[in-house]
Amino acid sequence: MSTCWDFSGHNVLVIGGTSGINLGIAQGFAQAGAKLGVVSRSQEKVDAAVNALSSHTEAIGFSADVRDYEAISACNRDFSERLGPIDVLVSGAAGNFPAPAAGMSVNGFKAVMDIDLLGTFHVLQSAYPFLKKPGSAVINISAPQAFQPMEMQAHVCAAKAGVDMLTRVLAMEWGCDGIRVNSIVPGPIAGTEGMARLAPTQKIQSAVTASVPLGRPGSKEDIAAAAMFLASPFASYITGAILPVDGGWSLGGVASLGDALKSAVSP
Ligand code: NAP
Ligand code: COA
Repeated sequence: MSTCWDFSGHNVLVIGGTSGINLGIAQGFAQAGAKLGVVSRSQEKVDAAVNALSSHTEAIGFSADVRDYEAISACNRDFSERLGPIDVLVSGAAGNFPAPAAGMSVNGFKAVMDIDLLGTFHVLQSAYPFLKKPGSAVINISAPQAFQPMEMQAHVCAAKAGVDMLTRVLAMEWGCDGIRVNSIVPGPIAGTEGMARLAPTQKIQSAVTASVPLGRPGSKEDIAAAAMFLASPFASYITGAILPVDGGWSLGGVASLGDALKSAVSP
């Protein structure tokens, strides 16, 4: 991707940054000259992501689970000891599977709450001492389920709604430190694990695309561009915002995904 952004001299840490949308964000910042850190559970994925990012910039990686506060805290500390204070923190680790609330195990609900919501709190709270003050930007990766009730997604809806509320509250609490906190709400992004899980058939994918006003799925580059905008000086007066980057999907089309999921599970 050619880039008009310049993040040289910036340190960017992307939690859940080893695949999909979050790796796309890491790649955007790396191509714009930032130093990168990525974190996820799989050491294999961490190594592959660091390898890919290293062709553009200095990149380091850590294997950790966002459900483990001590482990994620150590990532934030080690990153800042090696590269310096965190200029941009992206929190995007998440889990998802379609399942009806009545048929989901309590542990299934808890797994998604623990990764998406508690994990986001772990990431942000343990990063606070290491964020550059003033001037840093925190970006949480939310989802349309945060505001659109969707069948088969009770766990994700509850968790991502909580993520967006954390964005708003921490924007208030950390504004006096000069830390901005925003959410990006991606629409349906092509070639991602999330879409593979929620739109597993060509029929569902076509229905999703037809429900997007701009008439196409999003790309990882679309989300990376929004993240770089939110982290840039052009967004210096934006905090506590929940920004859809979705081709207009949130204007109404999102609701059709719940219908498609329901019919896919019980046709
Ligand atoms: P993905 O490729 O599966 O990305 C998830 C990332 O989080 C991976 O790097 C994964 O790596 C990591 N991860 C998962 N559980 C973790 C844990 N417990 N601790 C640490 N890292 C963990 O999925 P994606 O579809 O690109 O989704 C990325 C983000 O975008 C998510 O926040 C998702 O909710 C959001 N989103 C996606 C879409 C879409 O169309 N795909 C739409 C709206 C929102 P490991 O497996 O190595 O841990
Ligand atoms: N339907 C119903 N329940 C499911 C499920 C499915 N497709 N997949 C997992 N679960 C349940 C499990 O049965 C388990 O509950 P149980 O102990 O009562 O049996 C619970 O969820 C936890 O599963 P487990 O596999 O032990 O969790 P994990 O921590 O290893 O993995 C997940 C977490 C389940 C979210 C896993 O899908 C994951 O790691 N996802 C990351 C990638 C991803 O989802 N990307 C898309 C982001 S939008």
